[in-house]
Amino acid sequence: MGDAPRHLTADGYVDRYEAAAEGDPLQALALLAGWLRTEWRPLFAELRARRPILSTPAFTVVTRFSDVSEVLRNGDIFTVSGYAAKLDPALGAPVMLTRDGTPLNWREKGLMQVMLPPEDVPAVRALVAETADRALDAAAPAGRIDAVGELFRPVCTTVCAEYFGFPGPDPGTLARWSRTIMTDVTANLAGDPAVHAASLEAGREMMEHLRGALADRRAGDAEARSRDVFARLLRTALPGELAWDDDRTAVNVAGLLLGFLENAVGSMTHLVRQILLRPEIHRAAALAAADPDPAEFDGHVWEALRFDPFLKVITRVCARDHVLAAGTPRETAVPAGTLVLAAVASAMFDETAVPEPDLFRTDRPPHTRLHFGHGPHACVGVHPGAAVISETVRRLLARPGLRLLDPPDGTVVRDRDIFPDRFWLGIGDREG
Ligand code: HEM
Repeated sequence: MGDAPRHLTADGYVDRYEAAAEGDPLQALALLAGWLRTEWRPLFAELRARRPILSTPAFTVVTRFSDVSEVLRNGDIFTVSGYAAKLDPALGAPVMLTRDGTPLNWREKGLMQVMLPPEDVPAVRALVAETADRALDAAAPAGRIDAVGELFRPVCTTVCAEYFGFPGPDPGTLARWSRTIMTDVTANLAGDPAVHAASLEAGREMMEHLRGALADRRAGDAEARSRDVFARLLRTALPGELAWDDDRTAVNVAGLLLGFLENAVGSMTHLVRQILLRPEIHRAAALAAADPDPAEFDGHVWEALRFDPFLKVITRVCARDHVLAAGTPRETAVPAGTLVLAAVASAMFDETAVPEPDLFRTDRPPHTRLHFGHGPHACVGVHPGAAVISETVRRLLARPGLRLLDPPDGTVVRDRDIFPDRFWLGIGDREG
């Protein structure tokens, strides 16, 4: 492992981490967590070359594509029990993401695949196109748009309302519930009790609202006609032994919001910035955006996201002692109870799986991308979710004069250092 090219080790992350760990392990972990957020590309490049599986007292980071796949594919060893401890109490019930290889996961994942079929994509794209164009037209006279607040969020909350059938009391409340809960589930590695308590409270409010919405829908007469996902679930009558009822419907409608909103808004923010940072790619993407067939444009979208994925690591908890990458020079024992960070952002730059990873190539095969997860918990909303991202960004990129603005205006402003809240872009005539 010590033979990595010099340019990859010049930053010396491993040496600096280890030196810090000898003095103060907690401070060393804080250093690593900071790099994971802001210097992930050089950090992961060095780890892939020098320490592909890095064990720390708090977690193990896995950086090569094949090892990330091993973690994500083996749900019986690398489990989602960490999500269960956080999400189940917030929703007051288990949900598919928190259950490995159980009847509940099997049954509900199958059912939700039926509810979110690829055949919905054209209608979802049409809804997104109309909403996005309206937002862009409204912003055009000002010559600038807050892409997060005026475009990505309104499009996504419209999809929640119209396609999922979950408008919430208002878009702001939907966003608050989703962000508060997902902060605890995905970003509270240190287990801050205040973050967890806020998630429990948001989850309680949301589930109470959903149960009320469900009762209203049952009492009304629109359900038979509605095609939204909530209505489809309410029309689903399964035999009693399959344990499907209104409570499960409410939990799964909550899952639609939680799986979608922050992931979609964050991903769009990251990938649009990556495209606009590259003038030639921007020109090519804008040309492809005009093509009625989105296939060529989609290549730009997913490649741009690879250069800055919103979700950089997927977490798992190791359920029993396991030797990862067994039989290779990097094989590492992972004891039961270890928190494992499967670094998908790193895997997508592993040259053994993604040829010439530093090149922006729109023709990469889908198996080189991990944006929607991998293995038994791969995203159940991938078809409509991908369509929302692609169509929103396509409408934006089709606008002439689209450009990044200089800081501070053009800086992405984030809540909790994670969730994009503001991202001003110029559109139209530069004089405007
Ligand atoms: C219609 C929109 C969406 C819905 C309803 C949805 C829902 C879900 C659900 C329920 C899961 C858990 C599946 C399981 O445990 O078996 C999941 C997994 C996942 N989703 Fe989505 N999602 C949507 C959009 C997105 C988007 C836009 C992204 C990111 C670009 C995304 C990324 C992921 C990832 C990475 C996983 C794997 C999580 C893990 O393995 O821990 N999803 N999604």
